[in-house]
Amino acid sequence: MTQYILSIDQGTTSSRSIIFDHDARIISNGQLEHEQIFPRAGWVEHDPMEIWNNVRETVGLSLARANLTYQDIAAVGITNQRETTVVWNKLTGKPVTNAIVWQDTRTQHIVNELAGAEGLEKYKAITGLPLAPYFAGPKVTWILRYIDGAQEAADRGELLFGTIDTWLLWNLTGGIDGGIHATDVTNASRTMLMDLDTLQWREDIAADMGIPISMLPEIRSSSEIFGHCRDHGSLPGVPIAGILGDQQAATFGQACFNEGMAKNTYGTGNFLLLNTGSKRVHSNNGLITTVCYKIGDAAPIYALEGSIAVTGSLVQWLRDNLGMFADAPDIERLALEVEDNGGAYFVPAFSGLFAPYWRPDARGALLGLTRYVTKNHIARAALEATAYQTREVMDAMNADAGVDLAELRVDGGMVANELLMQFQADQLGVDVIRPRITETTALGAAFAAGIAIGYWESEHDVIATWNEDKRWTPQMARLERDQLYRNWKKAVTKTMGWVD
Ligand code: G3P
Repeated sequence: MTQYILSIDQGTTSSRSIIFDHDARIISNGQLEHEQIFPRAGWVEHDPMEIWNNVRETVGLSLARANLTYQDIAAVGITNQRETTVVWNKLTGKPVTNAIVWQDTRTQHIVNELAGAEGLEKYKAITGLPLAPYFAGPKVTWILRYIDGAQEAADRGELLFGTIDTWLLWNLTGGIDGGIHATDVTNASRTMLMDLDTLQWREDIAADMGIPISMLPEIRSSSEIFGHCRDHGSLPGVPIAGILGDQQAATFGQACFNEGMAKNTYGTGNFLLLNTGSKRVHSNNGLITTVCYKIGDAAPIYALEGSIAVTGSLVQWLRDNLGMFADAPDIERLALEVEDNGGAYFVPAFSGLFAPYWRPDARGALLGLTRYVTKNHIARAALEATAYQTREVMDAMNADAGVDLAELRVDGGMVANELLMQFQADQLGVDVIRPRITETTALGAAFAAGIAIGYWESEHDVIATWNEDKRWTPQMARLERDQLYRNWKKAVTKTMGWVD
């Protein structure tokens, strides 16, 4: 019987289920958006129950569209928006509050408290991460401190913490009836609670953050059987055999298996990951060290990451908050109506600045305005912002690695935007390459699951499916590209220190 792998990709704005065949072709797809909840300036929440219901529905949709049943699915892989934090009661199965999304800045005061006199790099040698509101640990502290009854329930051992992978795994495997409470090394490496060497929780850091160890999931590899879907769902008995944070999954799906290979994903934010092999490289240039993947009992592979909070979500913001266009891809048409940015620079520091600055005190700004500037220039400035931010993290990566990246593999929604991709190649000064399958995130999780159950043999099967689709080569004169970039850098400095 022909069988397939089902990949659940739970992202920041939507949930998707994608079914792949053995040749890594997409057989069908189900997708549902969920609400973005902004209760106050700087706060971003999701409803975990809505996410869980949407995931279930997309699984049903993808099966129905392909005319398949659970018997046709050999395994499930899960990939997810990282850092987004859910705390729930294991007796009722209900979250104690909404999920705090990775973009949320409410924990800045907790981060400052933790830093104390030792500073924001206090845990970096152990966890690879600077103290910043981005990561999950301080979000758990916030929930225990400010949600009524949460601390008491945690003390009674009733609460569980999970990133979205864990929340889905627990529900898929039975929830209050014996759901499995586990995560994978890549997601755990985003909590600021895991030791990058031992791949275990650090009790001392958890204690600093006031988080009982009993709340934390078991840390497993990225490719192994985590458990089986419960009997009364739409995938009864199907093994869940792969879990990876979405950016690590994309690195896997892009077949970046050799040290020195890198990919950049253009999603809500941008995330550039460089495979550093079995070495964990400490960044001196504002990047973070993270686990790239771990296949079963094999040694972990590490990555350096440049995380950019706002790229695609700036396009959404122009669409939803300013009504500048009806559909996100329209931004390209608007931008193409002018030849340049007209002097305008848009620094989308909506969640502060992530890599390479790590400045939670920054906020977004539009600079260089004159009466000459039109909405077309602003559309262009918004696209350019994505490319400049990527150049900043690529510069940092080259400095850390001591060698320059020769090319960059790209994926994610915005890689359909030709104007942006050409400008990206111009800014980086290296070729930008888009693969034939741009659903690399879902593909990476599918491969991790498929490898665990022997459906695919190894990473070589991923390499065999990777094909180049399009390549953009730098065309802009060096003088022009550097002048634009200098202006951008100047604009960035104006956004820092806005929040006290
Ligand atoms: O770290 C956050 C990241 O995992 C979110 O990814 O694809 O939703 O932009 P995305």
